[in-house]
Amino acid sequence: MIIITIANLKGGVGKTVTAINVSYLLAAEHGKRVLLVDNDQQGNSSQFYRQYSYDRPSMANVMKRTARAAQVIQHTDFPGLDIIPANLTLAEAERAVMMDTVVPQQVRLRECLREVKGDYDYVIIDNPPSLHMCAVNALSTSDYLVIPAVISRWTFEGIDSLLDQARQVQAYLNPQLKFLGTLITCCRRTASNQQGAEWLRSHGDYKVFDHYIRWTDKVDESTFSAEPIVLHSPRCGASRDYRDFVEELLTLVSDSDTRTEKEGAAE
Ligand SMILES: Nc1ncnc2c1ncn2[C@@H]1O[C@H](COP(=O)(O)OP(=O)(O)OP(=O)(O)O)[C@@H](O)[C@H]1O
Ligand SMILES: [Mg+2]
Repeated sequence: MIIITIANLKGGVGKTVTAINVSYLLAAEHGKRVLLVDNDQQGNSSQFYRQYSYDRPSMANVMKRTARAAQVIQHTDFPGLDIIPANLTLAEAERAVMMDTVVPQQVRLRECLREVKGDYDYVIIDNPPSLHMCAVNALSTSDYLVIPAVISRWTFEGIDSLLDQARQVQAYLNPQLKFLGTLITCCRRTASNQQGAEWLRSHGDYKVFDHYIRWTDKVDESTFSAEPIVLHSPRCGASRDYRDFVEELLTLVSDSDTRTEKEGAAE
């Protein structure tokens, strides 16, 4: 089971759109068993997959340790794709976790996912635009970090702070965590966008993915109709881009796993 966290401290950079579309493509077009974790109190991924509810257990229960994995996981309408939903109760749960000084705070999602280790090929975690305890839990349990970013004057600071935090998590909580790369989203053909993307690519530390996601109004439409972009508008640029990105992601993840196995064997 490979766990990928989609995070950025900045809001509105396409974290949720990336999480919901990557999850769908992995399940529907690559035949993977996928669990999408909505780790954001805004519950946007849950709303998208029609699982936003206050009547059933959710991520808040995971954080408070008041429900087992099997109780919080819901099926979506798409075969092979399940979700742990979230809603506003996650904000209160996060505060409760911070008050609990007895049970470790940073590994609660990890404990939950351990229960379903053999049940999924991929877990994709959609995160809030913050580095509070929920996001730290995501980093603590993940194998890979993917940072979606919109090119702007403030893109770089956000990525730098998150990478700093990821290094802390690597050092103290999860040595397994690897930064897989930065995914440029909402990319336009403006001079500032192109220059920003070039600058980002020229700095190897940001590991910019070869594929980027073009801006198209079809993406916003698809969130309203609650359809993955490849169903809503199969031929639009963003559909092609997300397909290409998922191919690239799978190659990188399997390359990296093969390398790790070889390194392990060599030790
Ligand atoms: N490639 C794209 N083209 C056009 N619009 C996009 C694209 N990707 C995302 N958007 C739009 O940008 C807005 C923000 O996207 P999204 O909700 O995925 O960001 P986010 O990083 O998850 O935000 P938050 O930090 O609030 O959770 C949404 O209205 C979404 O429809
Ligand atoms: Mg979001």
